[in-house]
Amino acid sequence: MKTIQIDITKAAQFLTPGAIEALEPQVKAAHASLENGTCPGNDFLGWLHLPSSTTADFLADLKATAATLRENCDTIVVAGIGGSYLGARAIIEALSNSFQWLLGEKKNPVILFAGNNISEDYLSELCDYLRGRNFGVINISKSGTTTETALAFRLLKRQCEQQRGKDMARRVIVAITDARRGAARTTADKEGYKSFVIPDNVGGRFSVLTPVGLLPIACAGFDIDQLIAGAQDMEKACGPDTPLAQNPAALYAACRNALYAAGKKVEILVNYQPKLHYMNEWWKQLYGESEGKDGKGIFPAAVDFTTDLHSMGQWIQEGERTIFETVISVETPEHELHFPDDDENLDGLNFLAGKRIDEVNKMAELGTQLAHVDGGVPNLRISMPRLDAYYLGQLIYFFELGCGISGNILGVNTFNQPGVEAYKRNMFALLDKPGYEAESKAIRARLNQ
Ligand code: PA5
Repeated sequence: MKTIQIDITKAAQFLTPGAIEALEPQVKAAHASLENGTCPGNDFLGWLHLPSSTTADFLADLKATAATLRENCDTIVVAGIGGSYLGARAIIEALSNSFQWLLGEKKNPVILFAGNNISEDYLSELCDYLRGRNFGVINISKSGTTTETALAFRLLKRQCEQQRGKDMARRVIVAITDARRGAARTTADKEGYKSFVIPDNVGGRFSVLTPVGLLPIACAGFDIDQLIAGAQDMEKACGPDTPLAQNPAALYAACRNALYAAGKKVEILVNYQPKLHYMNEWWKQLYGESEGKDGKGIFPAAVDFTTDLHSMGQWIQEGERTIFETVISVETPEHELHFPDDDENLDGLNFLAGKRIDEVNKMAELGTQLAHVDGGVPNLRISMPRLDAYYLGQLIYFFELGCGISGNILGVNTFNQPGVEAYKRNMFALLDKPGYEAESKAIRARLNQ
């Protein structure tokens, strides 16, 4: 099997010759500190060898649970936020038919997402949609206390019990949470839900290859064995003894740090396949939450091309030169469709007639790369043979390891997210949460100034 490749030549030309190679000792040290558990946040390194330690029995349990949900549900709502949501959505959207919603085929349940916002309209409309449907719920929260997810779960649990009865609700509600702590665990144990554990040593944004991602993906009808197989092969390909030039994840980490040191403060992840939109979102969280701290870190942005060439293209071509691009290029599409011939040729496009549409897309990609490089934007290109479960497994592990190494080179604790608490403290103070009395008083005084 091929592995995902990274081409750094069009980024290296913006750096002093040898700048990336010179980082090899630092990259090796950063990688070794993940392997030997000496880096900051070392109690969250469970993801590092997760693919190779995933057993067939474990996957069988997940598949059996997914089968129960698929048999009993026409719709499955996945409640979760951040790392408890984005990975599953990224893979499901990447593998789904673009018009899944409208196909009306009964082979797979409709997968919906909730618990990732506090919008009254979203939740009302979701509850309306679910009325009369045989829906199930996967409630995902590592802490078990996240407000967005807990709110959605309250609504969904009540509606599921009312519509389907307590016994059936017990069969079609599954919890994925901590082994011991948190309200999601307490509820699951009290109600007797089937549950899966998020390992203590795997943080949310590194958890897509745990039940957090695997159960929703299996429920959607996709091959989690292949996903894990891809991740396992990438784990092998990126071992700590692999030289930098042959280790795609280490090379990515080295290159982005060299660019950052050269003043490139923003990384734009680019795809040419709309199905990768949520992969962009997952990646933004992975890198943003891991590296953005201590006043440091590349800002992760993302665009969908060619769509966003008609919105953000101008800025990328001629705006402030503090950016670089990382392009995910899918080599072979899953379908074959040719540019149509037209007798009248009113749009003047008959010169394209008969070409694969993907060839046109690839020329847009190449033309954009050349234009952006000419415009002063370094370009990294990740080449992925196909958009299938196996290569998505590779891509996930590639980005996770790249992030682990990159954060260590940057010198931050890659695995914590202390900054996320700031908004929660203010929100709870404003909402008069018990225990926040002093904060409530202080925040009101501040607002009344
Ligand atoms: O990566 C992270 O740790 C976060 O994004 C969490 O996944 C997110 O805040 C949700 O947390 P929880 O799973 O505890 O509800």
